[in-house]
Amino acid sequence: MTILFYTTFSDAKIWKKEIKKQFKNEKIVSIDDKKNYKKVKYAIIWNLPDNILKKLTNLKIIFSQGAGVDHILNLPSYKQTPIIRLKDPAMGDRMSNHALSQILNFQLNLKKYSHYQGIKKWVDDIESYAPLENNKLTIGILGVGFLGKHVANSLKKLDYKVIGFKKNKAKKNYGFKIYHNNLNQFISSSDVIISILPSTKETTNFINKKFLAKMKKKSLLINVGRGNTLNEKDLILHLNKQKNFYSSLDVFQNEPLPKSSKLWSHPNVTITPHVASITIVKSAVKQMHLVYQKYKKGKIISDVKLENGY
Ligand code: OXD
Repeated sequence: MTILFYTTFSDAKIWKKEIKKQFKNEKIVSIDDKKNYKKVKYAIIWNLPDNILKKLTNLKIIFSQGAGVDHILNLPSYKQTPIIRLKDPAMGDRMSNHALSQILNFQLNLKKYSHYQGIKKWVDDIESYAPLENNKLTIGILGVGFLGKHVANSLKKLDYKVIGFKKNKAKKNYGFKIYHNNLNQFISSSDVIISILPSTKETTNFINKKFLAKMKKKSLLINVGRGNTLNEKDLILHLNKQKNFYSSLDVFQNEPLPKSSKLWSHPNVTITPHVASITIVKSAVKQMHLVYQKYKKGKIISDVKLENGY
């Protein structure tokens, strides 16, 4: 079988080596192997250019190198080829650690101490900075898919109160309260909101002026989903009005975040460059290989719902 591998990840070489190792019986080709395009049945990709997808006329399965599949669904030439999103527990662990680091930053006022360090000032007014205990903080998970659930369960183990929001009524027991038609209550109950929303027509600018106005005055918004789900202009206005409101952003409307963005220098904002759930290559390729083996036995089920756009 011929597999095309294409990525814009900076660790492309490591990926290629691991794919060759784990898919050792298959032929791995790149977009430069034009003569092989017709033979390509599988593709492992991130940000494949549309003009290449158009030429892969015998494609049976597309593996996304991440949990997100918007980079495929947004391609004009994409039709119906089943997509397998990456569902790697190691990626979930990474995202849980990322979220936890940002919660602790907020909970223990670490951003303030780092500011004081910058001006060499010893400020130990512990009372006004009294750290909250974990079980006094409610963490709202916006979007409870594979990664959302993983993050929620890790935080629950640390005694945080966890609630979730999903578009439709929950059909199973998540082990924590799920809101579906009462978004306002979900927002106003949360001290921290972790958004893991995918990018769809419905989620564009989901977190906007109205949403932010319902958040607690002292709260933290973490965005590790997709940049276009958050209206950055509304966020900046909100941050300027609410001095106890914080935001930790890993994804942006435009990536890399332009130098001109006011978010870079806002004292209450933490910026990370889309690394909240970077993949552990070996483990990610292993997950793909497992799915691939199942597919060859005729057992594949794609969990990407084209009608929902994620
Ligand atoms: C992903 C991502 O989709 O990291 O996995 O953005």
